[in-house]
Amino acid sequence: MLFDTHTHLDQKEFDSNRDEVLRRAQEAGVKYLVAVGCTASDSQKCVQLAAQYDGVYAAVGIQPNYIAEAGVNDWAVIEELATATGVVAIGETGLDRHWDYTPFDIQQDYFDRHIRLAQKHDLPFVVHMRDCDDDIMQMLRKARQSGLLKGIMHSFTGDAQMAAECVELGMHISFAGMLTFKKSQALRECAATIPDERLLVETDCPYLSPEPVRSKRPNEPAFVRHTATCLAEVRQVSLDELAKQTTKNACRLFGLTS
Ligand code: NI
Repeated sequence: MLFDTHTHLDQKEFDSNRDEVLRRAQEAGVKYLVAVGCTASDSQKCVQLAAQYDGVYAAVGIQPNYIAEAGVNDWAVIEELATATGVVAIGETGLDRHWDYTPFDIQQDYFDRHIRLAQKHDLPFVVHMRDCDDDIMQMLRKARQSGLLKGIMHSFTGDAQMAAECVELGMHISFAGMLTFKKSQALRECAATIPDERLLVETDCPYLSPEPVRSKRPNEPAFVRHTATCLAEVRQVSLDELAKQTTKNACRLFGLTS
């Protein structure tokens, strides 16, 4: 049994075949997944999907690259959605220096808002990071001053030292398809160092399919099995054991009974 902790099931790539995609996920042993919003309207759609499908939960937030185009009421929408049925996390949030879509100080302001909203409702927050490890760590250290953090470093691509500090701050570390790529040896070595109880798996679908289905597009929740298989090999445990551990971790973090 697997838990895909980060999908964009709301995206238009799945509009024509969402039932089929979810059936394939079930067949692959993926019992649960989180549909993660990147905008206020995407977040609304994620909440609807959680209401519609068994085993589907929602995360609501405004992803850093979409803040600049957000409407004036969008943050209020997120605040309201935070208490909707099926919402298990706030995000995705975080920081991104790769794309220059949102001024960085505004990204920091929204990252801070997401963390505080998550803390207010005792929900985990979902962190996206790209080309800004130091900036992320600075904000996490600051947030830690008001208590142990409850959140996910999503599609983690940092090094073992950064992962260890995130774990110390209270965070969970989630690995996506990039872990399976040939060039990702350093990331696999990092993945071997994460404590059992803080480890998660995800697809981040429809983006970046894992090996050996890397050429298949879109990526879909069923493919989390490949990333889990890679992670099990790296950590020298059986797939079954890895699946059990990561599902248990996700259920505990999201407040679900498995
Ligand atoms: Ni994402």
